[in-house]
Amino acid sequence: MTSNTAQQNAAVADKSILANSAYADGRYLAARQSIYRWQQPQYDLPGIVVEELADTSGTVLDVGCGNGKFVSRLHTDRPDLQVVGMDISGGILADVPKPVLVADAQALPFADNSVDAVLALHMLYHVGDIAATIEGLARVLRPGGVLLASTNSDTDKRELDQLWAKAAGDILGIPEGPARVSLSSRFSLEKARSYLGTAFKDLRVRELPGTIEITDPAPIVAHLASYEAWADQCGVPFHETVSRAAASAAAIIEAEGSFKITCLGGILVCRI
Ligand SMILES: C[S@@+](CC[C@H](N)C(=O)[O-])C[C@H]1O[C@@H](n2cnc3c(N)ncnc32)[C@H](O)[C@@H]1O
Repeated sequence: MTSNTAQQNAAVADKSILANSAYADGRYLAARQSIYRWQQPQYDLPGIVVEELADTSGTVLDVGCGNGKFVSRLHTDRPDLQVVGMDISGGILADVPKPVLVADAQALPFADNSVDAVLALHMLYHVGDIAATIEGLARVLRPGGVLLASTNSDTDKRELDQLWAKAAGDILGIPEGPARVSLSSRFSLEKARSYLGTAFKDLRVRELPGTIEITDPAPIVAHLASYEAWADQCGVPFHETVSRAAASAAAIIEAEGSFKITCLGGILVCRI
């Protein structure tokens, strides 16, 4: 479990870094998504969203839709819905099915009570004012509407945190170097309940525990390298640390046959 400094937290929510670097295109997000190919059990996240929207009709707004994994699936499985993808980065929307718009979740360009469902999947940890953003999501929802929010636990992928801290320590010549920047800790699964509980009285959490077991260091390296946008927040040379971690992961795979990563994500189903 990592705990960011105030400066790291500010960088995780920095709109310029998000739109122009971290999510300028879908490359880094795809690297983080692809590691779940080796997870057991497998969760069909877009399928879970489709299932949770079974009783929804009308308009679905996907806030921070990224590369459109969920928008695409809804277009295919629920062509009756009007699905709108929205992101702060125009670049990452390039291949997302239209309609899409570039806008900030903190200033939603939608009228009160105008949307039947809102998705805010793995994105609330990136907004500066999380509580105010959640108020805005509740504002645009029609009575009876649903918000699906997702994030990771503070304990998620702790083996990657340990791998990073050891690699950073090796470079600095100390047992353990500075912790890896954490994206989800500002709005982790543990914090999400109380954040969402102020605007939404009816909360249901679907926890998604699993284990990733990998026999090739490449997906681990791609995952660690996907934090490049925050390289200057690491307190160690970023690429050198990634290389060092890659060598350690390869050694663990050689000795133990695989590298195991414990995962815990969750989807919160929220009604007013
Ligand atoms: C981790 S990705 C998640 C993408 C997608 N929801 C998914 O779960 O696959 C976070 C996305 O939120 C977007 N984002 C971050 N801050 C935002 C904001 N203030 N308003 C709108 N989008 C934002 C990022 O550009 C990025 O595409």
